[in-house]
Amino acid sequence: MKRTLITSALPYANGPVHIGHLAGVYVPADIYARYLRLKGEEVLFVGGSDEHGVPVTIRARKEGCTPQDVVDRYHGIIKKSFEDFGISFDVYSRTTSKTHHQFASDFFKKLYEDGKFVEIESEQYYDEQAGEFLTDRNIRGECPRCHAPEAYGDQCEKCGSTLSPDELINPYNAVTGNPLVKRQTKHWYLPLDQYQPWLEKWILEGHKEWRPNVYGQCKSWLDGGLHPRAVTRDLSWGIPVPVEGAEGKVLYVWFDAPIGYISNTKELCDAQPEKWGTWQKWWQDEDTRMIHFIGKDNIVFHCIVFPSMLKAHGDYILPDNVPSNEFLNLEGDKISTSRNYAVWLNEYLEEIPGKQDVLRYVLTANAPETKDNDFTWKDYQARNNNELVAVYGNFVNRALQLTKKYYDSIVPQQGELTAHDQETINEFKDVKQKVEALLDQFKFRDAQKEAMNLARIGNKYIADEEPWKVIKTDPERVKTIIYISLQLTANLAIAFEPFLPFSSQKLRTMLNMDTFRWEDLGKMDILPAGKQLGEPQLLFDKIEDDVIQAQIDKLAATVKANQAAAAKAEPIKPTIAFDDFEKLDIRAGKVLECERVPKMKKLLRFLIDDGLQQRTIVSGIAQWYEPEQLIGKEVLFIANLAPREFKNGLVSEGMILSAQDWDGTISVTTLEHDVKPGSQIS
Ligand code: 2FM
Ligand code: ZN
Repeated sequence: MKRTLITSALPYANGPVHIGHLAGVYVPADIYARYLRLKGEEVLFVGGSDEHGVPVTIRARKEGCTPQDVVDRYHGIIKKSFEDFGISFDVYSRTTSKTHHQFASDFFKKLYEDGKFVEIESEQYYDEQAGEFLTDRNIRGECPRCHAPEAYGDQCEKCGSTLSPDELINPYNAVTGNPLVKRQTKHWYLPLDQYQPWLEKWILEGHKEWRPNVYGQCKSWLDGGLHPRAVTRDLSWGIPVPVEGAEGKVLYVWFDAPIGYISNTKELCDAQPEKWGTWQKWWQDEDTRMIHFIGKDNIVFHCIVFPSMLKAHGDYILPDNVPSNEFLNLEGDKISTSRNYAVWLNEYLEEIPGKQDVLRYVLTANAPETKDNDFTWKDYQARNNNELVAVYGNFVNRALQLTKKYYDSIVPQQGELTAHDQETINEFKDVKQKVEALLDQFKFRDAQKEAMNLARIGNKYIADEEPWKVIKTDPERVKTIIYISLQLTANLAIAFEPFLPFSSQKLRTMLNMDTFRWEDLGKMDILPAGKQLGEPQLLFDKIEDDVIQAQIDKLAATVKANQAAAAKAEPIKPTIAFDDFEKLDIRAGKVLECERVPKMKKLLRFLIDDGLQQRTIVSGIAQWYEPEQLIGKEVLFIANLAPREFKNGLVSEGMILSAQDWDGTISVTTLEHDVKPGSQIS
């Protein structure tokens, strides 16, 4: 039996982690780790924070602190969230650790000395005043396509074009605002093109069993042809490039981060060698199988770049499988750290305390294993109330309460089995095989469904048998019903341990289970007759509407705040000559009448005293005013606009001036003091 090394993507320590991270990577990785441990296999589950990279420096500048401050803060928050959710890492370290810096630096040096890199000189944008080269995202300038003034070096957010910094007109440093010049710089590249034939063989021929989304993405990268990739950057935050003449350069974050899996393993093994052995045992021994849990945006790095690095180095094993998930959306929209549109794990636990397993359950039930999926609070509530509470919790509670009531919480003796008992037991028997087959294929959603199916069987059994009725006529028979129900309950505690560890622990305590082994799954003698059980408690409780509504409202408030922040004044229109302005005859007028226009929801009809006569003006502002509000008011209007006829024959003789706010709200322009109707505006 091979040992298993499980890695889970190192999250960037530039913000807390959210449900998308949990669903995509950490819950499945944890289920897998717990499952193998419960089976008694040798497992090492490695995690850690990814603390280098540009996003950290951007955050630090925004907050006026150092990058180290940023990662210290978020590493702490992220680590705690993982602990709170029961993600059972054997090690959770960080890429700013000394061990990691040394390890990644040595790794680079070995490849450098073995001549595995190519050196390429190119011209890059440089801020002479700040003395720094800039990454694409930190360069801004005018978009060459739509001429928006603040396009990024890689993309224009206004027109959506993909750009390269070279295309920007008048590029400048997004942070300092300084203009940029081109400067020659040298970087080290991993020539992925040289690894292409080997990768094609290894993945396309050797790993046809990988998930279709993973295999497909690899194939399309390979079909497109690989190119050398720079593994160094001109930055100050990161691991210095350990080569003479490379001052001011650091390893690219995607070069050092996956090495973090190795250095974190080393940290653990060095600290507890008697328990874990050497790090080489986990990374350089063919008896280890390695599984990378990641999200789909990490596929190329884990299937193509990192394996090429390992291959270039030599001595290392390669991943056996890379069960990458697709993305989880939230209430129909993309989760976004920068837009603060997410359910943050730390906030979830503060607002809905003690419900770690509920979130784990919902995220697995709805896991984005084969396609992007949507998390909704209504679904969360329904799965809790209708599945965890009504099926699993209800069954366990009935079994334990009845045991307490009839037998003082002592497991009764089983009597003769009826055909129905036998049928129920048979349904149960192959659960171990079924769940194993699914987990071995990384089908966590279906595996959890199988575990839940046990609870359904139990619930149905006890409902069919109605021991609370039978007790009056045949108390001996009830012993068997309760005995079977309790065995099913013990089975549930085991089957759910990888998925819902907190609830399993609680159930295990209630059942006083001293042995807790995967191999017992499917057995009907886990709790022997005569065994004293503990005090029954509710495993899950109902989540009420107000809790759910508060979460929905919170997201809506975020969306609104984002819209307000994103709103900007329209660009100024092209300049006009003074003569053109003078052509406009703008006047003050008094509103004599104002009413809604039948069948035209947006329109209000005004009768205006313009000082000379009365005129009708129709205006599309009905959404913003009650007509009575405007009667008697003095408004500004364009008096010499050509009349305009509406569909219903109504003719508007002018236009009332109003201002439109960024969020679309319309406000009619009025005067500070009343003037005579017909007064001219200039
Ligand atoms: O996408 C991310 O969040 C990266 N920080 C993942 C890194 S995975 C590994 F290479 F460390
Ligand atoms: Zn543009």
